[in-house]
Amino acid sequence: MAHLLPKLSYTYDALEPYIDAKTMEIHHSKHHQTYTDKFNAALEKHPELFEKAPQDLLKDTSKIPEDIRQAVINHGGGYVNHNLFWEFLRPGQENNTPQGALLEAINKSFTSFENFKTIFTNEASLKFGSGWTWLCKKASEEKLVIISTSNQDSPLSQGLTPIMTIDIWEHAYYLKHQNRRPEYIENWWKVANWAKAEELLKQA
Ligand SMILES: [Fe+2]
Repeated sequence: MAHLLPKLSYTYDALEPYIDAKTMEIHHSKHHQTYTDKFNAALEKHPELFEKAPQDLLKDTSKIPEDIRQAVINHGGGYVNHNLFWEFLRPGQENNTPQGALLEAINKSFTSFENFKTIFTNEASLKFGSGWTWLCKKASEEKLVIISTSNQDSPLSQGLTPIMTIDIWEHAYYLKHQNRRPEYIENWWKVANWAKAEELLKQA
């Protein structure tokens, strides 16, 4: 069965004033919809792959038939990455911080939450071109790592489990912030859904 654009658990204007409604609407209903449609179109050529979870396809891209491999990396990646992006946002969470096991893991890996935030912000601000910045967990290690990927490449393809992510494609911020990516990142922290990140860490 074809993959569907996920419904958001909040309205497009729910993240105002930090992320504006128009950006949310276009990002979700146009950009994410297009990744979803193109991912489905690629899988149509090998319909048996509809049975597989999109995340599992991305975990071992060498197993994807060659004629659709890059399309799945691009559009399947775009589909999965945006699914997580929306889940890691939530309204009305100003001044919120990670708690419990997540805070402990962040402190162990980056000394403190403030230090983590600085490193993550720098990474996302300085990443060249379109892509994503991630907090991930390595399978066999307790420590968390911050990485960036280009285009729609997924950390799953590097054996990493994503815990949280920020979309740093211009389509995520250009309408409101134009070229001021750091301003977008600063606002994005205010609507971070730490409960979701903690849940993903527990599953990792
Ligand atoms: Fe995006």
